Amino acid sequence: MISQRVRTIEPSATLTLNAKIQELKKSGTKILNLSVGEPDFPTPEFIRKAAMAAIDDGWTRYTAAAGHIEAREAICRHVERTRNVQVDPSQVVISSGAKHCLSQTLLSLVDPGDEVLLSAPYWVSFPELIRQAEGVPLPVLTSARENHRLTPEMLEKQLTPRTTGIILNEPGNPTGLVSSAADIAAIVDFARTNDLWVISDEIYESLLHDGPMHSPFSYDPERVALISGLSKSFAMTGWRIGWTVCNQELAGAIGRLQSHNSSNACTVSQACVAAALDGHDHPDLQHMYDAFRERRDLMVDGLSKISGVNFSIPGGAFYIFVDLTERLGDGGVADDASDFAIRLLEQHEIAVVPGGAFGVSGCVRLSFARPQTELRQAIERIQAFLA
Ligand SMILES: Cc1ncc(COP(=O)(O)O)c(C=O)c1O
Repeated sequence: MISQRVRTIEPSATLTLNAKIQELKKSGTKILNLSVGEPDFPTPEFIRKAAMAAIDDGWTRYTAAAGHIEAREAICRHVERTRNVQVDPSQVVISSGAKHCLSQTLLSLVDPGDEVLLSAPYWVSFPELIRQAEGVPLPVLTSARENHRLTPEMLEKQLTPRTTGIILNEPGNPTGLVSSAADIAAIVDFARTNDLWVISDEIYESLLHDGPMHSPFSYDPERVALISGLSKSFAMTGWRIGWTVCNQELAGAIGRLQSHNSSNACTVSQACVAAALDGHDHPDLQHMYDAFRERRDLMVDGLSKISGVNFSIPGGAFYIFVDLTERLGDGGVADDASDFAIRLLEQHEIAVVPGGAFGVSGCVRLSFARPQTELRQAIERIQAFLA
């Protein structure tokens, strides 16, 4: 009865772990949850107020499928300010979160059998979204030792005549990768030389700990589709606002697709786009970004004192991807990363996500979207477990 397309979707790799977390919570155990994927801060008050005013002002009907013109104009201002590229509202499509943008952009670019390059570790949904568009994901393995650097030489090795595009994601989930300007320029050059499109997922764009990021969109706005949104940078995961900024032909295609499969993104949420983006230097937001930087420092400091634990320092987002291979297997603390995650949960009440979900074994992802007191406790317990 169920279609082949849906039958082949991989169940979430975190399913077993989540079931265990729920079971422990029910029995009254307090879990230190470092598996979370969203800011633990409330949406700033100035944005909430904009939403409440919008409801009274009648932002309650359908908008254009690609999004309300005022919201798209605000995105154009934001892209010019942050990427130094002038874009027209006809190049912007607002959708129900960055994930929805990714899904529709891939459906608009990928034909059956097309191959799409992406670096591994990758965000869990990338391969599934490529497969849903009947494409073939081609992961390119990077390592913590090399700071998860992705180079044209590595991409070249996977290139075949069926390769049509690359997905990039910076700041990255799960590694926090923020590449140098030279590395981004080299990857965009590689795409140009091989006539590949690029999707650049920049949903963590304001959560930067060591200086600016370098958006591939700035290097080739015709070839690169920039995807971002309000979810992470504005603590607005539940509001479901994402956007794709790309060339007019692709934006038109995505808009047509969206007009039939979901109409427009939530109108009340769209009403907050200008308030959020124009308020980028609001103290509430700066406070959140500072808190994430301090937590990143705390995690890096604590974990670097534990032997056999390797990671590259995250330059952005709120994850740290830890390579435990030296501590697993024969004579180690656990058989593999999944076993490690289960033991850490059962014996030390800490939830983390095993690396298999991100296409890499022997690793776990720790989220620092939790208060410092919890992070300190978690580090102490991990230290004790690995001692
Ligand atoms: C890399 C990446 N892209 C996209 C998303 C989804 O963003 P949204 O909530 O706006 O759909 C996430 C959420 O975890 C993510 O980590």
